[in-house]
Amino acid sequence: MEKKLSSVAKTTPKLLKCNARHVQGICDQLAKLVKEMYSLDVDPLTDIAICCGQTEAFAAAVFAIIDRGDEVVLFDPSYETYEACIAMAGGVPVYVALDPPNWTLDADKFMKSISGRTKAIILNSPHNPTGKVFSRDELEIIAGACCTRDCLAITDEVYEHITFDKEKHISLASLPGMQERTVITSSLSKTFSVTGQMTGDGLLHLVAIYCAILPSFCRLSGWRVGWAIAPAFIASAIRNIHVKITDSAPAPFQEAALAALTSPSEYFESLRSVGPKKFLFAWFYEEYEFKRDYIVELLAGIGFQICFKPQGSFFLFAELPENCLLSDVEYVKELIKQAGVVAVPGCGFFHTNLSLEKSSQVDCGYQRRYIRFAFCKSNATLAAAAQKLGKLLGASGHLMLN
Ligand SMILES: Cc1ncc(COP(=O)(O)O)c(C=O)c1O
Repeated sequence: MEKKLSSVAKTTPKLLKCNARHVQGICDQLAKLVKEMYSLDVDPLTDIAICCGQTEAFAAAVFAIIDRGDEVVLFDPSYETYEACIAMAGGVPVYVALDPPNWTLDADKFMKSISGRTKAIILNSPHNPTGKVFSRDELEIIAGACCTRDCLAITDEVYEHITFDKEKHISLASLPGMQERTVITSSLSKTFSVTGQMTGDGLLHLVAIYCAILPSFCRLSGWRVGWAIAPAFIASAIRNIHVKITDSAPAPFQEAALAALTSPSEYFESLRSVGPKKFLFAWFYEEYEFKRDYIVELLAGIGFQICFKPQGSFFLFAELPENCLLSDVEYVKELIKQAGVVAVPGCGFFHTNLSLEKSSQVDCGYQRRYIRFAFCKSNATLAAAAQKLGKLLGASGHLMLN
């Protein structure tokens, strides 16, 4: 298996020990958490690399594994950053389309995408942009391919705690034979609402800074603590590369991360549950399932086609209204101009068979017919969006953009 490391990782003279440049307590706590959640036995001294967010952990994992010309299989649509990392490593992305409207994995199509040059398979579940949570059956197909075709897997599990309808995230590494060939990447960003932008109340942000730290208060952007969990020889190569890219994740934020990761199990549960909360201070916590239902009802009610209700993450990938002649990009522009509501055009997430000439009008393929809404907003913001959209409804009750 060690031959699977990239030449970059192998040529570095001395692989670093785990005790450099991180707060060891985070590794101890992560090992405890993955044991509880996924029954994985992880050595906190050798199997973990603490990085600047999942983004760096993923990049370092790709650089540790992928050599020029190696093929990397990804599912389409997919989160944007993977392809750039693969390209920087000299790898060749090979996309397998998930089938709309339910974004199902076609086992035949997937198996055909794997060649003798496939080094790794990328899996993001819960999935951005669709909100899909890969089922155990689908994971078994992916695991089967990794084992029989001798491939590694790199997972992105940043939404691991945010699932709905009693759906539970299963880590690919927990399937038989997979821990030894999987790099798990994840981070604080989504679980503790410390991703790209500021949310919530400004005073609470200050409290969070000075009290360091109650997790649900930590809603400042960019805390940039993530991790890769992998077999020791891969984790060591990842740390090696991490030291060359960023040297270390910011130490004070690592201390905060440790405080956050030791939150009571009810905190993690609360990201999944809905309705009245069962424990003290529950009102601080997110109620993503409630928000998901609110936005699904809102958008379906004004004409969007919502065939697939998100099972996890905090995105809704909505199909444009049936008779809408605008492309996804045109629609989003009008939505911003006329309603003051922002969504992301779906085309940015698609990579297979996208024909740019067909970028608008009725004959565009499904890849031009989806837009992504984020519902990780306060209930007041969601209600304000509903009100703004409500002002543009036609006689049929559907949203009318000119
Ligand atoms: C699927 C996915 N992975 C990773 C990230 C980024 O994670 P981090 O902030 O830990 O770098 C995002 C953020 O939008 C995401 O949606």
